[in-house]
Amino acid sequence: MLTPENSVIDAMLQNVRRATDTNLKLQQDLLLGWTRFWPGFSGRAENPAGSLSNAVSSGMIRLAEAQRDFVLQQYDTAIGMLEGGQNGNEPVQPAAAPPAAKPKAAAATTAPPTGAPQATASRASVAEATVPEVTAQASLPALPYRNIQNKVAVVTGAASGIGEAVAKELAVRGAKAVLLVDRSDAADDVAKSINKSIGRAVAEAKVGDTTDEAFRKRVFNDAQENYGVVSICVPAAGITRDALSVRIDKETGKADIYPVETFRQVTEVNLIAPIYWGVEMVARIAEDRKQRGLKRWEPEELIQGVVVFLGSVSSQGNKGQISYAVAKAGLEGAAATLTKEAIFHGVRCGIIHPGFTDTPMARALGEEFLEKYVLPYTQLRRLISVEEIADAICFMINNSAVSGELWADAGWHPPA
Ligand SMILES: NC(=O)c1ccc[n+]([C@@H]2O[C@H](COP(=O)([O-])OP(=O)(O)OC[C@H]3O[C@@H](n4cnc5c(N)ncnc54)[C@H](O)[C@@H]3O)[C@@H](O)[C@H]2O)c1
Repeated sequence: MLTPENSVIDAMLQNVRRATDTNLKLQQDLLLGWTRFWPGFSGRAENPAGSLSNAVSSGMIRLAEAQRDFVLQQYDTAIGMLEGGQNGNEPVQPAAAPPAAKPKAAAATTAPPTGAPQATASRASVAEATVPEVTAQASLPALPYRNIQNKVAVVTGAASGIGEAVAKELAVRGAKAVLLVDRSDAADDVAKSINKSIGRAVAEAKVGDTTDEAFRKRVFNDAQENYGVVSICVPAAGITRDALSVRIDKETGKADIYPVETFRQVTEVNLIAPIYWGVEMVARIAEDRKQRGLKRWEPEELIQGVVVFLGSVSSQGNKGQISYAVAKAGLEGAAATLTKEAIFHGVRCGIIHPGFTDTPMARALGEEFLEKYVLPYTQLRRLISVEEIADAICFMINNSAVSGELWADAGWHPPA
């Protein structure tokens, strides 16, 4: 028998009350973000009395409130039953099914908690707890992809490997537009293939060099003009120019030092350029918020943007990669600093360190090298797939609680 003395039941009821309030808050947050991204819906004949987005918002909030009231009603009824059980020594009956939400209003995030304690005696009042119909609910961005759905993204190095996979995954997860930046014309074909496979025009190629400042500004200007402020930046373009920092020439006995020009080239592409692509996005978001009269970012605004840099396991040091390792380690400092600065404008920042991933960059090491010096030192004993890294990057973008660094290295444990 369930009685009020039963602390498990008591805790359960309290959890229902807490979960319901949290659910309402989440929906309100969601709506705040959603209405901002559908400015075209405001005003107009659909709802002469006011803006449609406002009408939908308030409808949604009413829906959430109705659901909260419904659960609280069940809570009170259950308490009543428990008290009845105490006085009249009657057991609490198994839960009655809550009324089904009207088809168009059904959504996972808004369904009343089915575990709420209910009693047979409460069925009449349950039936009266109607849920308002809100037809636009189906088009709300699903909570799992809140920071991706309907957002504008810039991915550099998107003609190949990890960048290509990230661009594709962002499109699959509902980005509004993804700009594929690469110095290779192959970006065009990749964009076309993404659009074909997704079935909508979401990807657009921008061919140019990421170290070119004018090109970078053009990409962001075009993106803003055509799709809106960019809020996802994954600057993945990168190169390797591997050689030992000091190598003795066997013939002459003289030491060859890693050329400083090559060092500059690698850090230009792998360190400075990605930082500036990320900073460019932060700058655009900062300007946009300023124009809207906003100052220090407040959580109610929801996250305004995310930068994810591509580090590497080499950032911890790797023979033959003096310039590459320096660049990747430098990105850690950039991510850590931007994390602290950019949240003022609502932008999060992180860095992923992939292990050896199956791309042209890794394959360039040669089959023999990979077999001998790479695979034995990864726990998975295989190269990581680009889809695995793209998935991890999308996780970092989407989950606002994630900050800092993510190691996606397949258990890389190289010998000293
Ligand atoms: N593949 C791996 O094992 C691995 C591991 C850790 C980190 N990473 C990093 O992930 C990122 C992507 O690497 P990948 O393996 O997919 O490489 P990839 O060679 O397959 O792709 C890199 C892309 O960047 C483009 N690019 C290079 N320099 C450019 C420039 N200046 N301007 C415009 N585009 C430029 C290239 O054209 C190419 O399409 C890089 O930053 C790399 O350092 C790769």
